[in-house]
Amino acid sequence: MTLNVLLLGSGGREHAMAWRLAQSARLGKLWVAPGNAGTEAYGESISVNAGDVGSVASLAERLHADLVVVGPEDPLAAGVADRLEAAGIPVFGPTRSAAEIEWSKSFAKQLMEDAGIPTAGARTFDDAWAARDFARVIFASGLACVVKADGLAAGKGVTVCDTIDEALAAIEAALVNNVFGPAGARVLVEERISGRETSAHAFTDGITVRHMPFACDHKPVFDGNRGPNTGGMGAYSPPAWLDASTRATIERDVTERAVRALADAGRPFRGVLFPGMMLTTDGPKVIEFNCRFGDPETEVLLPRLRSDLLDICDAVAHGRLADVPVEWDERATVGVMMASAGYPGAYETGVAIEGIDAVDSDVQVFLAGARRDASGVLRTAGGRVLCVVASGATVAEARTRAYDNVQRIRFEGAHYRTDIGATDSTADEPQAAR
Ligand code: AMP
Ligand code: GLY
Repeated sequence: MTLNVLLLGSGGREHAMAWRLAQSARLGKLWVAPGNAGTEAYGESISVNAGDVGSVASLAERLHADLVVVGPEDPLAAGVADRLEAAGIPVFGPTRSAAEIEWSKSFAKQLMEDAGIPTAGARTFDDAWAARDFARVIFASGLACVVKADGLAAGKGVTVCDTIDEALAAIEAALVNNVFGPAGARVLVEERISGRETSAHAFTDGITVRHMPFACDHKPVFDGNRGPNTGGMGAYSPPAWLDASTRATIERDVTERAVRALADAGRPFRGVLFPGMMLTTDGPKVIEFNCRFGDPETEVLLPRLRSDLLDICDAVAHGRLADVPVEWDERATVGVMMASAGYPGAYETGVAIEGIDAVDSDVQVFLAGARRDASGVLRTAGGRVLCVVASGATVAEARTRAYDNVQRIRFEGAHYRTDIGATDSTADEPQAAR
């Protein structure tokens, strides 16, 4: 039986998801809401505010969608899965209460503490005086801290502090000046830890867990992990430096424990659970949980998936993940993000993009902030514009091919990191004191 699918989102992640869903023999019709210039090749774009759960549910009903696949976290935090389930529409993505593991860092921290999941120590505050006192105690003992807005803050809610003044300013911004709105009405003051970072992803239907290969994101804008953080300037998979025993520890003590703890709390998680990990001298520790695929991790993970993504999403939505194969290719992948001039600060859009036709046929270009104008010309429409993904026998081989193809794509002011996947250099070393 074929399935008609509604996919929510509009980034490079959703382009990669649409590409894989469209390879399924079981796919009937695909709609993407709101979609972008990349998803258009696989499904009809439908203009809707994906964060407005009422509109999404009526859209899914009107289309008679057999399955809704949710890309980003905002609709999940707004309860889109609950609303769709109530309407009898199967959904790939957790309910609002299961997604709380991402949209409330204090909830996630409590769950981790209760379940014995290794994570950086932290305390939660809604009072600025108490938060400041706690930060002062941390710095007075020669340690440093990270101040995190409790809620979703579009990736901007985390301040890694080198000095007490930075910590006090971050507390002030969130709790006194409300720069994150309600998302910053509570903050976590967290112990600052250090080590290499890696993203663990798993499909789960709340009971069965199928781990994906590990991937690594490069968040700072410049080579050598310098400059401000971005949504992610590129990614690679797998990290050869991550040994099998550490991988097994993360899978067992982090992902599987979290899935069990959520189920035990009456919040079964269906979708992709993605803990962001830091490998400290004291073992791997969680720095955050995400309730969906990472971006740009998805762009390097999905090309490695050998099984049918639609079968997996459908099985997750129906609680029968144990029945479908989830297999991965051995080949490594590297994805390089090309960004607009000025990103992650202010940038212009509407710049013509050229050269995509010149990339090798087995290299993927996943469009993120890109749209087609009325005459069909591809133009920039966001900060992160597109991700060029190549594969190879090793990360080094994939990396050479990715950069060879990046050079064929041009738009005015385009910038990208030149060290994505260069794991022998400082590219993914822990950030030195900023
Ligand atoms: P997030 O927005 O939670 O992904 O955090 C952004 C970045 O902040 C992470 O990728 C880490 O590099 C850094 N970070 C988060 N938590 C900590 C921590 N406890 N200690 C040191 N760095 C952290
Ligand atoms: N690449 C990190 C994230 O999607 O949260």
